[in-house]
Amino acid sequence: MLALTVVPAAPHVALTEVADPTPLPDQALVGVKAFSLNRGEVLDLPTRPEGSITGWDAAGVVEHAAADGSGPAAGTRVVGLVRVGAWAELAAIPTNRLTPIPDGVSFAQASTLPTAGVTALRSLEIGGLLLAKRVLITGATGGVGRMALQLASLSGAHVTALVRDLAAESLLRRLGASAVVNALTEDFDVIVEGVGGATLGMAIEHLGKRGVLVNIATLDPAESVTFRMSRFTRSPGARIYTFTSFDETAAHDSGTSDLIRLCTLVAEGRLDCQIELEHSWRAIADAIEALLSRRVGGKVVLHID
Ligand SMILES: NC(=O)c1ccc[n+]([C@@H]2O[C@H](COP(=O)([O-])OP(=O)(O)OC[C@H]3O[C@@H](n4cnc5c(N)ncnc54)[C@H](OP(=O)(O)O)[C@@H]3O)[C@@H](O)[C@H]2O)c1
Repeated sequence: MLALTVVPAAPHVALTEVADPTPLPDQALVGVKAFSLNRGEVLDLPTRPEGSITGWDAAGVVEHAAADGSGPAAGTRVVGLVRVGAWAELAAIPTNRLTPIPDGVSFAQASTLPTAGVTALRSLEIGGLLLAKRVLITGATGGVGRMALQLASLSGAHVTALVRDLAAESLLRRLGASAVVNALTEDFDVIVEGVGGATLGMAIEHLGKRGVLVNIATLDPAESVTFRMSRFTRSPGARIYTFTSFDETAAHDSGTSDLIRLCTLVAEGRLDCQIELEHSWRAIADAIEALLSRRVGGKVVLHID
């Protein structure tokens, strides 16, 4: 099969002929039609072994159902989450992270959900019932941020989007933000924080009583984060939660059920996948440049043609 494998020179992947994957008993073999790019997997490319296949989010058609009898049958349109291997013509996907795609949802739309959608959904669920809660989303213009603010709004929260550039205000209000700000003055019950550094420090200072801040990312892992302890300790019961989507879905056994919920929302027209760029996977270099340079926000989807 053809796959995008890791190479030393930028963009750090190239189309290569490789052996087909051999699925484990609980994995379906999926003919991938589309995958979406995530900042994390793209930034990881230079650190991955040369020749390895990467990619987390795959949408396609089951070629061989899992040998243990679990999961969808051959011929089913599916979307799934893998630790590695989505950027290939064939991917072996565990059936507990795989679900059928409903009618009316495209491969491209479905491919945006496994990482960005599930991360947004799981991180918000840490905040419990969101009805009438004050929710803050940082990095609100990104793939995860746009999903999180829509899901929080659908859940009945009062959603504030924190952005660098207020030019995004009308877009984010359309997606459900009640307020779009570039600085914080109020406190929040639930914060989904996807930037780190000074943004994380500022967000911690605006946690309300018994509030929870879910940190999903930091732009620079070596960076020190500062905040005034007096601002944190004035909110008894406030928590900071470190989030990793693979760990969360495993802990809650929720990979498939989260994907079903997200696909249903897309099928009902209630969740907009915010695809801003679609290309053939042969244009991977341009797609990676667009994502990393922030030439496009939202999601980048590549089609296997
Ligand atoms: N923990 C997990 O399991 C998990 C899962 C998924 C994603 N993540 C991480 O979460 C982060 C967001 O992912 P994504 O896919 O949404 O990425 P993305 O689409 O590239 O979005 C990046 C977001 O960060 C903002 N941003 C970038 N640099 C910034 C800076 N210096 N100061 C303030 N904001 C800045 C961008 O705002 P502008 O529009 O202003 O550029 C944008 O809102 C990434 O770091 C990713 O690795 C973690």
